[in-house]
Amino acid sequence: MDRIVIEGGVPLKGGINVSGSKNAALPIMAATLLTENGCELTNVPELVDIGTMSKVLESFGVEIFREHNRLKINTAGVKSGAAPYDLVRTMRASICVMGPMLARFQKVVVSLPGGCAIGTRPINLHLRGFKALGAKIELGNGYIEARARKLVGAKIYLDFPSVGATENLMMAACFAEGETVIENAALEPEVVDLANFLNSAGAKISGAGSSTVNIQGVNKLSCHKPYKIIPDRIEAGTYMVAAAITGGELVINDIVAEHLDAHINSLKEAGVEITPAGRGLKVSLPDGRHPLNLKTHPYPGFPTDLQAQMMAMASVTKGTSLITETIFENRFMHVAELNRLGASISINDKMAIIEGVDHLSGAQVMATDLRASAALILAGLVARGKTFVRRVYHLDLGYEKIEEKLAAVGARIFREGE
Ligand code: UD1
Repeated sequence: MDRIVIEGGVPLKGGINVSGSKNAALPIMAATLLTENGCELTNVPELVDIGTMSKVLESFGVEIFREHNRLKINTAGVKSGAAPYDLVRTMRASICVMGPMLARFQKVVVSLPGGCAIGTRPINLHLRGFKALGAKIELGNGYIEARARKLVGAKIYLDFPSVGATENLMMAACFAEGETVIENAALEPEVVDLANFLNSAGAKISGAGSSTVNIQGVNKLSCHKPYKIIPDRIEAGTYMVAAAITGGELVINDIVAEHLDAHINSLKEAGVEITPAGRGLKVSLPDGRHPLNLKTHPYPGFPTDLQAQMMAMASVTKGTSLITETIFENRFMHVAELNRLGASISINDKMAIIEGVDHLSGAQVMATDLRASAALILAGLVARGKTFVRRVYHLDLGYEKIEEKLAAVGARIFREGE
């Protein structure tokens, strides 16, 4: 297994290009199941999760050709089937094939995703929505089966604006008879990207990006030109913190600034300077940093996927910072590892109380999930001495070439076999 070794203390300088969004690419790949012959997707990041989604689609008879960041997806031979446990267990987002498969074949079988390191993450909202569209759901032997004679449009209220449920139901409703309205829908840019993709193939979706999404059923979808995935706002946000935590100056290219409003506001409040620069943003730290007080929320609130990274920065920021996690239970697993590096963080229920320390000291640490791994890398960039981040496979799920990108702007970072 690989580990990442970082020798901290270098203020990062230069430009970093942001890759395509993993969380937009995954449901869009699933959505190609709805199309007659498939599609070409560009700006798809080269990540383990993308490989897993490719295998899930291949298990349904789809053919996928990859050329760097371009995926040619041929769905001409797609057939009904079951998404196997070995794939679904490694990537919960596999369940977003349920909606399109149900729409296309009136039947889908997917292994139950099971627990996950950042909480129990149920899929009750997805299943309740499928039922409202006319599907019958059966659970047995670790699999969920959804079946319908035909899907009929319905009004669906989500108790929580779940990203995955909004996407799954939007896809399921594409071929449902009549109109479907999803209320309290998630507003995330990835939901909008999925709707834009589906509309480019002939779907009739309006309101994506607002809390009420309206889908008029159509008979078929077909792609006519390549579709470009939006930039990854979480990757971009992580590199913004890399500039701020090291006191460097980075220009982050290919960023969509309005996708990061809450993050930008929090960084500015902490004393970070952020200005437009070419096709991106310049991030620097003119003076010292101030402590943070932030709370995660569904979009457009502060994203849970950047919480761990901001905690790494708060841990070396003078004063007391408060970070509250409201989206996922159990998403503070990076706290114990940051404390191993010398941070002073305690947890009180959903709130982490961070007493800024003068410096962190390199140590062996263990990545526990994707965003926790990013936080440990950021901490390693400023820790004195060497930090060894183990279990980096978590990182490979979501950050394209992270050590190469950071090394190119001056970080002393490399990957080695353990
Ligand atoms: C997506 C993102 C993930 C991000 C999360 C929140 C992808 C592939 N992943 O995950 O990176 O952290 O949004 O921004 O896009 N919930 C239920 N019942 C359900 C569904 C969700 O109770 O049926 C709860 C979850 O347990 C969680 C909360 O709702 O507490 C948010 O989940 P959701 O928005 O669905 O996140 P994902 O789509 O899984």
